Amino acid sequence: SDQFCDAGVGYGEPACGISSSSSPSKILIKGGTVVNAHKQEVADVYVEDGIIVAVGDHVTVLDATGKFVMPGGIDPHTHLSFEFMNTETVDDFFTGQAAALAGGTTMHIDFVIPVDGSLTAGFEAYEKKAKKSCMDYGFHMAVTKWDEVVSKEMEIMVKEKGINSFKFFLAYKGALMINDELLLEGFKKCKSLGALAMVHAENGDAVYEGQKRMIELGITGPEGHALSRPALLEGEATSRAIRLAGFVNTPLYVVHVMSIDAVEEIARARKAGQRVIGEPVAAGLALDDSGIWDPDFVTAAKQEPALLSFYFVLYVMSPPIRVSGHDKALQAALSTGVLQLVGTDHCSFNSTQKSLGIDDFRKIPNGVNGIEERMHLVWDIMVESGQISVTDYVRVTSTECAKIFNIYPRKGAILPGSDADIIILNPNATVEITAKSHHARSDTNVYEGRRGKGKVEVTIAGGRIVWENDELKVVPGSGKYVELPPFSYLYDGIDKAEAKYLSSLQAPVKRFKSTA
Ligand code: URP
Ligand code: ZN
Ligand code: ZN
Ligand code: ZN
Repeated sequence: SDQFCDAGVGYGEPACGISSSSSPSKILIKGGTVVNAHKQEVADVYVEDGIIVAVGDHVTVLDATGKFVMPGGIDPHTHLSFEFMNTETVDDFFTGQAAALAGGTTMHIDFVIPVDGSLTAGFEAYEKKAKKSCMDYGFHMAVTKWDEVVSKEMEIMVKEKGINSFKFFLAYKGALMINDELLLEGFKKCKSLGALAMVHAENGDAVYEGQKRMIELGITGPEGHALSRPALLEGEATSRAIRLAGFVNTPLYVVHVMSIDAVEEIARARKAGQRVIGEPVAAGLALDDSGIWDPDFVTAAKQEPALLSFYFVLYVMSPPIRVSGHDKALQAALSTGVLQLVGTDHCSFNSTQKSLGIDDFRKIPNGVNGIEERMHLVWDIMVESGQISVTDYVRVTSTECAKIFNIYPRKGAILPGSDADIIILNPNATVEITAKSHHARSDTNVYEGRRGKGKVEVTIAGGRIVWENDELKVVPGSGKYVELPPFSYLYDGIDKAEAKYLSSLQAPVKRFKSTA
């Protein structure tokens, strides 16, 4: 059987089980529980030419009795074909998306990285990379320098190229990092364009200092990574970005929230009425560093120190995977609405690439896998444990992303007129995650050996059945670029909020004048 096929794990080989035979353009899904973020009901779903035509009664094609029929996942945060830290991610727009489809994700939003600061050149490069796409995708764009050209390019990206979000890196000093002056310019420009500002929130200057300290202490191995960039540096940058976004009165999206420190800042701002979105990633919800310090593992690693280092490098991402406790707090924040949607930050390297930094943690390419695992992990960790409902599952894995990036209800819903991106999840089946059976390209998997309940048995993307009976049927070039329009719901009424804010600034002045 191909259930745990071992093809596709080698660098340069196609992902396993992929064939390009076409699927029927008319599909009927019968008897399942159709779950939208607003309600769930037993109903049939009829799909024709890539669009959901009706939710109601029809002839049987796929039997979903006892299963959940839900909108395909949308991963708001991925890096495919990303040139980063002197190497390039193993997954490209075909292999990464094929893996995503096998895991029930039918759309992702990737980060265009400028070329020498040029947004235009960056966009053109990513347009080329994405030609081989087998599922729908959109783009965010990073801003890594500031001048009149960049400012104008941001406008072109929003008005002509379908980009409605810009990411600012407060970390990666000497590479992608920007300073507060640029951050303010970027925030102002985002506000004027109706685009969403996003931040990677870690204090990059302090991280640099932390790295120096580690090297001075002789800690050069992978364990130095997390020690050099503690949660307080994530809290500081999250707080700073939120306060500066509030100062400009523009909505803010904090990517890969990894710590209690950052959650507290987001909670405080949201409570005060500020429009701040917080995105945990699968790794933050599912992992902590206890596996690394497991007594049996440490004993084994003492016999063979290289084993410890090898294990450590695989988990290196930024912000780092934290000590136990942060994971539970992130889950709680997701279940209570302090955090709104789950991404992955899928940025996958093979073990050879990760080992580039085995003797100097500063050289380990940062990033972990997740695009294929996210839907299963969130189901098992959040729904199976009783922390969220099935409708909330749909919201945090799909609907909220579609709303934030302004493509709802074309995406993120099962409604007449919506794109036919649909999954069928069997809550009684189990899934085991292994590098041997996954469809992504890396030879390792940070969730290796993890078992969970809930299995995506069928994925329909753009009206084609692309994943069924543990087999992928994907066609390079079949994925469409989805333009993301500006002025999402996060902008609704923001000027009224601004007027209130400005008058609150003036209140003390008036009081001062009247007493003078
Ligand atoms: O370690 C990470 N997160 N790699 C991807 C780049 C980023 O910061 O999102
Ligand atoms: Zn396979
Ligand atoms: Zn980042
Ligand atoms: Zn990222």
